Amino acid sequence: MKKRILALLMAGAMALGLAACSNGGDDKTGDDVTTYKVGVAIYEYNDNFMTLYRNEIDRYFKEKETDKVKYEVTFQDGKSDPATQTNQIDTFITQQMDVIICNLVQTSTAEAVIDKIVAANIPLVLINREPLGETDESYPGIVDNPKVCYVGADARQSGTYQGEIVAALDNKGDMNGDGVVKYVMVVGDPENPDAQYRTEYSIKALTDAGIKTECLVENIGNWQTDKGQEITNSALTQHGSEIDVVFCNNDGMALGAAAAIKANNRTVGQDILLLGVDALDDCVEMVKNGEMTGTVLNDHIGQSHKAVDVAIELLEGKDIQNYYWVDYVKVDANYVNK
Ligand code: BGC
Repeated sequence: MKKRILALLMAGAMALGLAACSNGGDDKTGDDVTTYKVGVAIYEYNDNFMTLYRNEIDRYFKEKETDKVKYEVTFQDGKSDPATQTNQIDTFITQQMDVIICNLVQTSTAEAVIDKIVAANIPLVLINREPLGETDESYPGIVDNPKVCYVGADARQSGTYQGEIVAALDNKGDMNGDGVVKYVMVVGDPENPDAQYRTEYSIKALTDAGIKTECLVENIGNWQTDKGQEITNSALTQHGSEIDVVFCNNDGMALGAAAAIKANNRTVGQDILLLGVDALDDCVEMVKNGEMTGTVLNDHIGQSHKAVDVAIELLEGKDIQNYYWVDYVKVDANYVNK
């Protein structure tokens, strides 16, 4: 009896051994499932655009799963606080994430963040807030590291499109006919290149078109709707019908500006113009019905897919580029009524 049991055990052990051999380190043909751990650090959950972006990262990782490859994705909210984000990155490193996707709270922390992630030998995909180098595509921590890249959109393009939408109007943005386009600039976050470039290039597009401009108010709205409303409201109280255009660095703030414009009995398209960036669904609807002059599509689908695709390439040990760019699209009345 003992012998029979021993024989059975041996046969079992051999069968297992054979099975192990046939799997021999080849993931593709074996039954093994590879689970990659992905850490995603977002600068702030309370941001309309980054919420769309974050949800699409989550959805698209799920879409990319197969029977053999799974992604365990952990999201963290940096709450607009660099110290909170640094702690979250430290935790990702301790948890030995296989790849990190990071939307910096502050681009000035980029060097420290990149250094610690690179030292832990974890690949890194930076998104949405571009650390700027001396020239384009030259940030040292990015170009010096083959496993670090930035995925984003060139904010100069979005600013230029805002200005071009105004310059293309019959009155070239001079709503009250006083010969100068006087504007309010609602700025996102002065530390963020998207805000800096949109502020600069929207006006540059007007001056390049030979249009005289004057800034009446420039104020920081931190990308938030309530701030956009507050800034626009006090600008309208102070400057009234002098204001031709309200430029907002994003649609979140433009939604607030639209409410302030209505509350002050002004009418977009008739006596004032309103521009945003992102092409949030609500704002595209408003461009359609004339409540906004225009916005610019900030393609969160294209950007999130690119970020996930590159993260997967890094997990697979493939070579990547240091910079990836996704185009903006001009969204004005012509575009939405097409
Ligand atoms: C978007 C803003 C967003 C910001 C966050 C920008 O690209 O246009 O809506 O608040 O990114 O960094």
